[in-house]
Amino acid sequence: MTTRTPRHGRARRLAADPDGVAEAARVLRGGGLVALPTETVYGLAARADDPDAVARIYAAKGRPSFNPLIVHVADAAMAAEVAEVAEVDAVARGLMDRFWPGPLTLVLPARRGLAQAVTAGLPTVAVRCPDGIARDVIRAVGVPLAAPSANPSGRVSPTTAAHVLDGLGDRIDAVLDGGPCAVGIESTILRVHPPTLLREGGLAAEEVEAALGHPLERDTTPGRVAAPGQMGSHYAPKAAVRLGVAVRAPDAVFVGYGTAQADVLLSEAGDPVEAAARLFAALRAADDIATARGLSRIDVAPVPEEGLGRAVNDRLRRAAAPRG
Ligand code: TXA
Ligand code: MG
Repeated sequence: MTTRTPRHGRARRLAADPDGVAEAARVLRGGGLVALPTETVYGLAARADDPDAVARIYAAKGRPSFNPLIVHVADAAMAAEVAEVAEVDAVARGLMDRFWPGPLTLVLPARRGLAQAVTAGLPTVAVRCPDGIARDVIRAVGVPLAAPSANPSGRVSPTTAAHVLDGLGDRIDAVLDGGPCAVGIESTILRVHPPTLLREGGLAAEEVEAALGHPLERDTTPGRVAAPGQMGSHYAPKAAVRLGVAVRAPDAVFVGYGTAQADVLLSEAGDPVEAAARLFAALRAADDIATARGLSRIDVAPVPEEGLGRAVNDRLRRAAAPRG
C-alpha cells in the first residue's frame, strides 16, 4: 500500500512490502529519487546510469560535486557492469563472496561509460551490495543505483524513515519505510588494490583483516581525499559535542556508554554493536533534549577503540569537529 504523508512535504512513505518495492522501482526507473532502507543507514537512491537523476541526488542533499557516490548492486555480476573486476581478481571476488550482501563497500577501477557525476571524475568507483529490501528494489529496477546516505550534506545520517522525511521530505519522491536500520552506521570502505581501509564502518576492520589474512593499510585521515566525503566536520548536531567525558555534568546532555546514568544511552552494557545501531538516533535525541532544556553542549562517554567502537568513535569525532 502507498500512502501520502501530508506532514512531511511531498515525499510518499511506501510500505516495505511487494507493492512498496514495485512502486519504489517504478519511480526509480523513471529517474526519481527514493530513499531506501539498508542494513547500515537509509540511502537516497537514483539510477546510476541516468546523469540527470544522479544530479538530482546532489541537489537534494546539497552535496559538493567533488564527493562521489557509492553504487549499489544486487550481486557481483552487477558490480562488474560498473567496475573492472577481472575474472582473475581473486581479492575482490573473495571479499564479495565473503561479505556481500553486507556493510562493505569496495573501491575498484571504474568502467568507462559510468556517469561522471557518480564518480566525481575519479578513475575508481565505490560498489556495495546491501542486504534486505534495498537489494530487492535494485533487482526490480534492474540497473545499479547510486545512493549516498539520505541526509542533508553534513548532517546526521538517517536510520529511520522519519529521519529521512525530517531532513529531505520536501526534496525527494518517496521513502521506503523498512523500520530502523540494524547496523546503524555506514559501510566500511575498502580500496581493494592494495587493500586499504578508507572509512571505518559497519563491518569491523578485524573481520576484513581475518579474511585477507594480513593487516590493512589505513588511509582514513579526516579531510584527505582518499574517500573524499571524509570531511572533518560531519554528522553535526546543533549543540556542541565533547567526547570522552566520564562524568555527567549539570550543564550538558550526557550520552552514556557502559552505564545507565545518562540522558541518552548508546549502550548500557557497553556493547559497541548496540552503540553503532543507536548512535545516530542518540545524537538526534540528545540534540532535542539540549533544545528542550536550553543547553548548548552534548557530552559523550568514552567508547573503546575496538571492533565497531572505532567506527562509532570516527563518527563521534566528526560530530565534535569544529564546524566549517
Ligand atoms: O552504508 C553506506 O555506505 C551508505 C548506504 C546508503 O549504502 N552510504 C553512504 O554514502 O554512506 P555516503 O555518500 O554518505 O558516503 C560515501 C563515501 C563518501 O565518503 C565518498 O567520498 C566515498 O564513499 N567514495 C565514493 N566513491 C569513492 C571512490 N571512488 N573512492 C574513494 N571514496 C569514495
Ligand atoms: Mg553520508
